[in-house]
This record gives sequence, structure tokens and C-alpha cells, in this order.
Amino acid sequence: MNKSTTLRYSVEELPIAARVLRDGGLIAFPTETVYGLGANALDPAAIERVFQAKGRPSDNPLIVHVANQAMLESVTTSISVTAQRLIDRFWPGPLTLVMPRHPSLPSSVSAGLATVAVRWPDYPIASHLITLAKVPIVAPSANRSGRPSATTWQAALEDLDDRIEGVVCGPATRIGLESTVVDTTCSPPCVLRHGAVSLEMLLAVLPELLDQPPVDEATALLRSPGLRHRHYQPKAEVRLVPMQNTSQSIRTHDDATATAPKRAWIGLNPPIQARTYHRVELCSSLDQYASRLFDFFRRMDGENIETIDCEAVPSEGLGRALMDRIRRASGRDDLSNDSNSPS
Ligand code: TXA
Ligand code: MG
Repeated sequence: MNKSTTLRYSVEELPIAARVLRDGGLIAFPTETVYGLGANALDPAAIERVFQAKGRPSDNPLIVHVANQAMLESVTTSISVTAQRLIDRFWPGPLTLVMPRHPSLPSSVSAGLATVAVRWPDYPIASHLITLAKVPIVAPSANRSGRPSATTWQAALEDLDDRIEGVVCGPATRIGLESTVVDTTCSPPCVLRHGAVSLEMLLAVLPELLDQPPVDEATALLRSPGLRHRHYQPKAEVRLVPMQNTSQSIRTHDDATATAPKRAWIGLNPPIQARTYHRVELCSSLDQYASRLFDFFRRMDGENIETIDCEAVPSEGLGRALMDRIRRASGRDDLSNDSNSPS
């Protein structure tokens, strides 16, 4: 039997993992949002390996993670008033800010853009690891490109085993969806990706904020190239289904016939036709729905489920981010028609 070359680090072994990172190795680690695939942001060879390990298109820029003010100032040339207001209110936290890129950062970090996306995570294992590494750390989600993000170290290994030097075996992530991304370099500033720092929270600080890149702008997509590509997709077909209004009891796989397509359900309410589902995952809150979604996708792949029905939620607060991920996973979002999209 082949032995995995990817080492498992305990939380006590963070100093060793930090050393490997600093020296150009790739280490997956937990944050409050999802597991990240970490590499030294100042090392072009390490950056190149991140793109290879993930199978990520080279036009999709990476987020640079920092853990103190000096690191922040080393990756950007200026912190605008807009950016500072968001930093004061939401950092450390699940918010990524697009800012002017410092020339000392390899341009491959930003896929050649003049900007850089920066985040200061609010999670002790992540901030401790970055502080110990003493360099800013790029960390895309620790999944193969196009797959659901990894919310556990096991999921990170499922996708990246033997492609990376190590994984920090922390707990499952708290939020389960990736950070909110705001572009502070355009006027007015705009949201590029919705996340746990909700539009409502952002608007309270920046009333002029747009909830998406301006659609009439020919270059809108160029602002966040990642939006063009396939995302979050398990092997099963994902479908977004209307909110259910039922309190009927759930009866699952016992009643599903062996020949019917294997279906699974995740939502806040039980499905109306519960007996046609092999698996039903009932979430008690929006937070729980968000934190379980990607793990559920992966578990259902393990059970050869063919269709995953996801119950819609109101598009507000965290619900906006959740609906965005489900739509993209279903391939039904407006931006997913790019035939060049990688898997
Ligand atoms: O929560 C998160 O943000 C996680 C954890 C590990 O921190 N990371 C993450 O990274 O989700 P990733 O690479 O999966 O997503 C980065 C997103 C992509 O949509 C990318 O296009 C966008 O950020 N992005 C990165 N740099 C950008 C830039 N300079 N301008 C516009 N968008 C950028
Ligand atoms: Mg990702």
C-alpha cells in the first residue's frame, strides 16, 4: 500500500507547519470560513504549486492572508478610507478586501491584476500559523478547482492528498462558506462575493456599496475572474427547490425504491415527498445550513447520490451567500455559461 506523502499536523505542531510554509511548502489549515490551502505569498514557486495542486486556472487570483498591521502594509500600497472603515468594523473576520497590490508581491498571486485580495482571519489556529510563518500566506479554499470547498481536514485531504506537504488537523470550520469579498478599488465599492459579513452589515458601514459589480460595465467580470468558473460542484446534480411549508414527519430511505434515482435533501424544512429521498438533512438554523452544505455535498457523493435538492431560503443576511453557493453548485447562476470553464 502506498503511504501518503501529506503529513498530518496536530495543532501543537503549528511551529513545524509554519516553518514548512515559510520554506515554500503547501499546508492546508482551518480558518473560520473554510479550510485554506496555504503557501508563502512572497514565493513565486510556491504560488505556482498552489495553482497546480488545485488544478486552478491561472487567471483566478488568490487571497493573501495576514495576521498583523505590518503584514497588511507589506502587501498593499495604500489603505483607502473605504477600506479602513471596513477593516475597523470587520477585521479580523470573514471579509476579504480587494486593494492596490504592493509591487513586492509576485503578480501571479493576483493573476496579473494590479490589485490584491487581503483577509485577516478571525481564527486562532490560522492567525497563529501566519504569525509563526512571519510571511503573508495565500490561501485559496483547500479543494480541487470546481469542487465544494473543504470544511474539514478530511475533505482537504480527499482532494489534495499527495499534492501538498501537510494539513493542520483542526476542527470543522464554524461558518462553512467562504469570506465575503469587497472591491474597495472601484467607486462606488462593490461586493464580488457574498459571505458571512452580510450585505446588510456592510451597508450599515458603507451606504454607497453596490451588491454586485456594475453589470453595464464591459469589464465587470474582469474584476473577479473567479466568478466565471465552475464552483462548488459535487458529482451529484444539485437543484435549488422552493421553500417547503410543511411539518410532516420525515420518512427516508426505507421507502425509497431501489430503482429510483438516489435523491438527497438538505434544508430547514422536511421535503413534501420525504419518502422518495434516501437522505434528508434537516438544519435547525441558517447558520447550521451554511456550515453543513459543502460537507453534505461531499458525503452524498460518497453514497452515490445522484441528485441533491437544496431548499431555498430568503435571500437576506447569510441566506444571500447560501443561495449564491447553491445556485452556482447547480450550474444555474447567470455567470456560469462560460464554456471555457474548468472542472
Ligand atoms: O474564506 C475564504 O476567503 C477562503 C479562506 C481559506 O480564507 N479562501 C477562499 O479563497 O475562498 P478562494 O481562492 O477559493 O476564493 C478567492 C476569491 C475568488 O473568487 C477570486 O476570484 C477572488 O477571491 N479574488 C482574489 N483576488 C482578487 C482580486 N485581486 N480581485 C478580484 N477578486 C479577487
Ligand atoms: Mg474556492
